[in-house]
Amino acid sequence: MAKLLVAEGHETWGTSRNLGRIPKMPRCHPVRLDLADRLSIEEAFNAALIEAGHFDVLINNAGAGHFDPAELLPMETITSQFQILVFGQIRLMQLALQHMQARGDGLIINVTSLASRLPVPFMAAYNAAKAALASFTMSIQLELGNSRVHVVDLQPGDIRTEFNQGVIKSAKTDRRYEAKVTKTWEVVERVLKNAPEPELVARHVLKLINSNRPPPRITVGDVFQSKIAPLIFRFLPQRVRLWGLKRYYGL
Ligand SMILES: NC(=O)c1ccc[n+]([C@@H]2O[C@H](COP(=O)([O-])OP(=O)(O)OC[C@H]3O[C@@H](n4cnc5c(N)ncnc54)[C@H](OP(=O)(O)O)[C@@H]3O)[C@@H](O)[C@H]2O)c1
Repeated sequence: MAKLLVAEGHETWGTSRNLGRIPKMPRCHPVRLDLADRLSIEEAFNAALIEAGHFDVLINNAGAGHFDPAELLPMETITSQFQILVFGQIRLMQLALQHMQARGDGLIINVTSLASRLPVPFMAAYNAAKAALASFTMSIQLELGNSRVHVVDLQPGDIRTEFNQGVIKSAKTDRRYEAKVTKTWEVVERVLKNAPEPELVARHVLKLINSNRPPPRITVGDVFQSKIAPLIFRFLPQRVRLWGLKRYYGL
């Protein structure tokens, strides 16, 4: 996203927990941000705001997942997932909204996930956190009414990024779940390897930025994940949805 935005001439503030990871590019300003640390969120936003003067767009994209049975998931993992994927993102959104509302213009893109609607097995806290941010986003969309500040829920399907490398997994799983966890992980890895490149998401983000009236929610991914699956899923009873997802993951 940052590469495309700077190429299009946009001044961009890119975040990482490790500043060295941010590629050096003209018009790309590195900002240290750790969503797990509440202080870091305010500091990062305020420092970047002083430098920028104002923001036209906030993209809430940072995130990471876990992969373990929900039954055995440590509370620390669940809390950490919600801090990074929900509370941190909500705080950033609030900070940006206040400034954008005062200026009467702006765009916030919350990157949630298709997993908020079609959950991935053994990613229960991740799925739930993404669903929470999607729901919070919809509530804000209602409250903003006809404001010229727009909030978009961008739901990616599988996209070929480094996401799986950042996934937190227990070294050993309970024997009752071992085979299922292994099988599901194989599917998750295989699907991600064949997924579209992140440039696809970046192009959609650019389209949203250039739009006068961005849609409240978009799904980005291959045709099956972004169009066919969500459409079919919408009309199915819950029992059939669960059956379909179990078949998909071989459970
Ligand atoms: N890839 C997919 O298939 C997929 C599907 C649906 C949704 N998504 C969502 O898309 C977003 C981007 O993920 P990605 O696929 O691009 O994964 P990625 O390649 O692993 O990138 C994740 C980014 O999040 C940042 N991050 C992780 N934990 C952080 C923390 N505690 N504080 C601040 N930054 C943190 C990382 O920055 P540093 O490590 O540099 O700090 C990294 O830049 C995430 O919200 C993810 O949930 C991805």
